Amino acid sequence: GLPTRVRIHEVGARDGLQNEQTVVPTGVKAEFIHRIADAGLPTVEATSFVHPKWVPQLADAERLFPMVSDVGPDRLPVLVPNERGLDRALALGARRIAVFGSATESFAKANLNRTVDEALAMFAPVVARAKDAGGHVRGYLSMCFGDPWEGPVPPAQVVRVCRALIDLGCDELSLGDTIGVATPGHVRHLLAALNEAGVSTSRIGVHFHDTYGQALANTFAALQHGVTTLDASAGGLGGCPYAKSATGNLATEDLVWMLHGLGIETGVDLDRLTATSVWMAEVLGRPSPSRTVRALSHK
Ligand code: HMG
Ligand code: MG
Repeated sequence: GLPTRVRIHEVGARDGLQNEQTVVPTGVKAEFIHRIADAGLPTVEATSFVHPKWVPQLADAERLFPMVSDVGPDRLPVLVPNERGLDRALALGARRIAVFGSATESFAKANLNRTVDEALAMFAPVVARAKDAGGHVRGYLSMCFGDPWEGPVPPAQVVRVCRALIDLGCDELSLGDTIGVATPGHVRHLLAALNEAGVSTSRIGVHFHDTYGQALANTFAALQHGVTTLDASAGGLGGCPYAKSATGNLATEDLVWMLHGLGIETGVDLDRLTATSVWMAEVLGRPSPSRTVRALSHK
């Protein structure tokens, strides 16, 4: 049967805003994070400590993180690619960090200026030091299903990098469908391959972008497999700079609508979350792509 409770890992303030053309003022980001936390999302990915030239939208991480730290560092994961990023995050009291690898060489190069294995070597001291400091580490893996340059990605290639991230000491994985090409059969296949390689479902999260309208179906396939860590972004914010047609993540509201309909607990107050996404859509000057946000705000 399906799980009775899941944890939604909210990525709107990071994955969403990093890919929006509008650079949102720091104070507005802080209000966004507070409102999402108040709507009951247990985990609110806040920002990234990356090179500011690579992601100008998140260049204000040093100012933003202290403005939201009252939410509690255990609810506020941040992305960290290397030791420089880890130093910046730890100095501000961050306790949950995420490294972000790639299943493909093309994306590793484009996103991290490294080969897949060079990126893993860069993460090794980051994960070790974060664990020594008592932190929790997520290992993202991008392009788990398809890659804009390389096409379909063989599951064995994904499994190898997942194993490597677990072996580095990551507490959980998040399987990224960065360009949104996956379909539910592919999801089931990859989850089974990971289990066969000794990766327990309890450590696996899923991260679907909605480019082809499959994100909710893919998440449901993962739920049926027993996955209980589900990534989504409020209002479906976001895109992907390396795949022009890619849209944002699965909208959190669409996910919550389905989960509550299934009787699965999330802790999320859907009306408060929807009001937050309507407000953010006004800030960004474009309507939310989430069908649930549109339906609930035009009742
Ligand atoms: P690089 O150019 O190879 O950097 O970039 P480097 O190591 O050669 O260092 C060059 C300079 O950058 C040095 O300064 C460093 O100090 C500085 P200099 O000595 O020349 O003055 N530097 C930094 N400054 C601030 N913070 C840092 C940092 N690191 C180095 N952390 C690097 C390598 C990893 C830094 C770069 O490629 C980078 O920042 N990439 C980040 C890309 C990114 O954030 N992408 C989006 C997140 S991933 C994603 O969205 C996918 C996901 O959602 C899942 C999915 O959907 O698939 C997670
Ligand atoms: Mg993403």
